[in-house]
Amino acid sequence: MPKLQDAGAQGDALLRQSYHAVLQQAIATPPQAILDIGCSVGMSTFALQAIYPQADLTGLDLSPYFLAIAQYRCHQTATAQPPGRFITWKQAAAEATGLPDASSDLVSAHLLFHELPQSAAIAVLQEARRLLRPGGHLAIMDMNPQSEIYAKMPPYILTLLKSTEPYLDEYFALNLEQAIYNAGFTQPIPICNSPRHRTLVAQVR
Ligand SMILES: C[S@@+](CC[C@H](N)C(=O)[O-])C[C@H]1O[C@@H](n2cnc3c(N)ncnc32)[C@H](O)[C@@H]1O
Repeated sequence: MPKLQDAGAQGDALLRQSYHAVLQQAIATPPQAILDIGCSVGMSTFALQAIYPQADLTGLDLSPYFLAIAQYRCHQTATAQPPGRFITWKQAAAEATGLPDASSDLVSAHLLFHELPQSAAIAVLQEARRLLRPGGHLAIMDMNPQSEIYAKMPPYILTLLKSTEPYLDEYFALNLEQAIYNAGFTQPIPICNSPRHRTLVAQVR
């Protein structure tokens, strides 16, 4: 297996694998109900299903268009490899999901938080706390603001990045570990799972 920094076309798969390795290390009991917030076209949801095949999975996203693709891909897979386990797809904001209290063992956010203004990020953490059962876990994989790569990045590249990621400055300025604690979780210790990414896993307090 190539290393993440020179993984080329395998980079995405390796990044997901490295996230799952952190999850499996941090969470002793496999979660029975998992909510994947900001699931887009389902890549993160299908990847979670592969490591937790017994779990009930819900993929949630703001975009009905992405969810339509996720649903289509889910149907294709189930047809190709029956019996594919059912995934529920839900269109909603992660900060107001409409899902019942204490309905998940794991809320996973893979590459969502860098897309959020700080007010939404804090609201999403509070919503995740509401959705989790006692002992449940929140897991967040995203860009690592402490990464040297961003510190050394030429300003014009950073500007280019911000042109497609309008809330990047707010994300970099947020102390996410503290915000997670403030929302009612244990304070997570960041685990670097690529030269540019980190995973935070926290448990309900
Ligand atoms: C970079 S994609 C990540 C996709 C996926 N988790 C993955 O790892 O492949 C971020 C997704 O978050 C969704 N999103 C952004 N803000 C959101 C919000 N407030 N609530 C729910 N989804 C949101 C976007 O529609 C987009 O599909």
